[in-house]
Amino acid sequence: MSLEHHQIKAAFSKAAQQYEQHAVLQKEALERLLERVDFDAFESEQPFSPQTILDLGCGTGWAVEPLLKRFPDSHIIAADFSAQMLNQIKPHEQVECRQTDAHAIDVHAGSIDLLFSNLMLQWCDEQTVFQEIKRAIKPGGLMHLTTMGEHTLHELHHAWSQIDDKPHVNHFVPANELADLALRLGFEDVIADSELITMTYKSVVDVMRDLKNIGAHNTDDKRSRGLTSPRVLKDLTKHYEQFRTEEGLIPATFELVYLRAKKSSQDHGLSLRIKD
Ligand SMILES: C[S@@+](CC[C@H](N)C(=O)[O-])C[C@H]1O[C@@H](n2cnc3c(N)ncnc32)[C@H](O)[C@@H]1O
Repeated sequence: MSLEHHQIKAAFSKAAQQYEQHAVLQKEALERLLERVDFDAFESEQPFSPQTILDLGCGTGWAVEPLLKRFPDSHIIAADFSAQMLNQIKPHEQVECRQTDAHAIDVHAGSIDLLFSNLMLQWCDEQTVFQEIKRAIKPGGLMHLTTMGEHTLHELHHAWSQIDDKPHVNHFVPANELADLALRLGFEDVIADSELITMTYKSVVDVMRDLKNIGAHNTDDKRSRGLTSPRVLKDLTKHYEQFRTEEGLIPATFELVYLRAKKSSQDHGLSLRIKD
């Protein structure tokens, strides 16, 4: 894992109080993810009604209300590794806040009907988290998540690449690789797709400030440390300028990846040892 775990946690904890104010993209992604859950729950040939839902990397608990509206009898475990994020969630008798890390989820094996996760996976080691999710889900249970795809922040990536070859922008895994990984780990009915969402800002500094406010700045351990000097910032702005829109705004592209997968109803987590 090249991402520095404790720094990611610290960045989100610091951003917790102003998170909802700035997380426009996250809110949009959440709505779109819920639509996909709706399809499985209410429109598919085998509708399902989850009893226990795990919202992994729940942040300030934005998903809690819409999930309860859809599944009024469910029990929701709102899980995040940041206590500051969890502290923002309003108490509710059907909602249990749990401080836990997605790489070692504190839930019983086979206890979750629906794993829901909006824009957390990109901060994690995907393989470890998928294995943990698979352990947590009941046989026949579903995983629905969003993450960032490889084309995310390509403008910023391009502008930095004109300055040096350090990793200033996080590396995001392509959607097809995530789907392959889920299949290799034994998930079934895997569907991955993605779409590009472009946000616009007045300036390059605004792009970077927004990423920081939502706790989404670069955490690659090979990044250059310290503040960006005014000279570098000027250079960066110059290289980013080529993307300025006709309306005079600075675009930042985000590739939103959706992944849906099922744990086989035959998968009880037991492995067979065959004697010769
Ligand atoms: C971009 S926010 C999304 C929050 C929420 N899902 C939403 O839609 O608003 C990512 C969240 O994932 C949490 N997170 C990141 N890495 C995590 C990990 N390894 N284990 C648990 N939570 C994690 C962060 O603390 C943060 O609250």
